[in-house]
Amino acid sequence: MIRWGILGTARINRRVIPAMRLARRSDLISVASRDRARAEAYAREWSIPRAVAGYQTLLDDSNIDAVYIPLPNTGHVEWTLAAIAAGKHVLCEKPLALDPADVDRIATAAARARVIVEEGFMYRHEPLTEKVMSLINDGAIGTVRAVMSGFTFALDSAPNIRLDPALGGGSLWDVGGYPVTYAQLIIGHEPKMVFGTAHWHESGVDEEFMGMLRFGGGATANIYAGFRAAYRTWLEILGSDGGLTVPNPFKPGPIETLDLERNGALERIAVIGSAEIFVREIEDFEASVLDGAPPVVSLAESRRTAGTLVALHAAARETGRG
Ligand SMILES: NC(=O)c1ccc[n+]([C@@H]2O[C@H](COP(=O)([O-])OP(=O)(O)OC[C@H]3O[C@@H](n4cnc5c(N)ncnc54)[C@H](OP(=O)(O)O)[C@@H]3O)[C@@H](O)[C@H]2O)c1
Repeated sequence: MIRWGILGTARINRRVIPAMRLARRSDLISVASRDRARAEAYAREWSIPRAVAGYQTLLDDSNIDAVYIPLPNTGHVEWTLAAIAAGKHVLCEKPLALDPADVDRIATAAARARVIVEEGFMYRHEPLTEKVMSLINDGAIGTVRAVMSGFTFALDSAPNIRLDPALGGGSLWDVGGYPVTYAQLIIGHEPKMVFGTAHWHESGVDEEFMGMLRFGGGATANIYAGFRAAYRTWLEILGSDGGLTVPNPFKPGPIETLDLERNGALERIAVIGSAEIFVREIEDFEASVLDGAPPVVSLAESRRTAGTLVALHAAARETGRG
């Protein structure tokens, strides 16, 4: 069994705690908050046996094997390194780091401490992604030429870490990693050139981001991330022999239908997914920690992701705010 602790009483925990309970070899035993009363109330609400004040206090608990880190983006590197130093395995929410050099520091420390560190991209663990990749790799649409993908939702006016530049806010860091990682997964490597432009929120973060990626080998991708339109996610892949349309690529439901078009004919392919998302992410992490399976999202991949996102940001800053 993996004995888990969670750093912070984040909203996303509402999806991950039930998944930890459904996963076969996980036991959630502690939650930490910056505030003792909040930790205690949270532990009562979620029936977590232990509540502690301060993230380091949880890391110092020798009964914890692994931590889940759902902190604001700027806390990911600091607390991942602290967890590694305490000998804990780490499942850290995306984005693992806002600088590829920090992924290198994490990789070096994790290798030395012999712990698993994985960035949480839940969609990567779902059967829908596996089906898409097997169709692409089997040549269902020929050579991939273009990927179009995005993730948007409307942020309400309540205070949110996503609008705070000091906490690593912005739509690209928040949801841009989804289309970027999917495009890189399909095409097989990082782009050679990127172009980006954004609408900027008064706080200074990008609240809508459009990016173009040109890959060696002749493929391109266009990606979209945003806080200004209603919830929508999409993925369309164009190949030399056809096209594939993927509904709900990043949060698949229990049954999804892929549209595969080839030679003017449309084939609808049903994919049975998870009854509860996030469970497979936790179970794959169990397999890495307990059985030695390689993490589905490797640190080498996390480094490529951070590199591309940093380059996109730099490109958008160059195009200015006009
Ligand atoms: N995989 C997914 O599908 C998914 C979905 C949503 C979010 N996420 C990721 O999960 C992370 C958390 O997102 P969220 O929306 O759940 O965030 P949230 O509700 O704002 O929670 C963040 C938590 O971090 C702690 N924290 C530490 N320093 C903080 C600070 N200066 N300001 C605010 N909170 C601080 C707080 O816990 P305490 O006060 O208890 O210490 C807070 O509850 C982000 O990295 C995000 O990208 C992933």
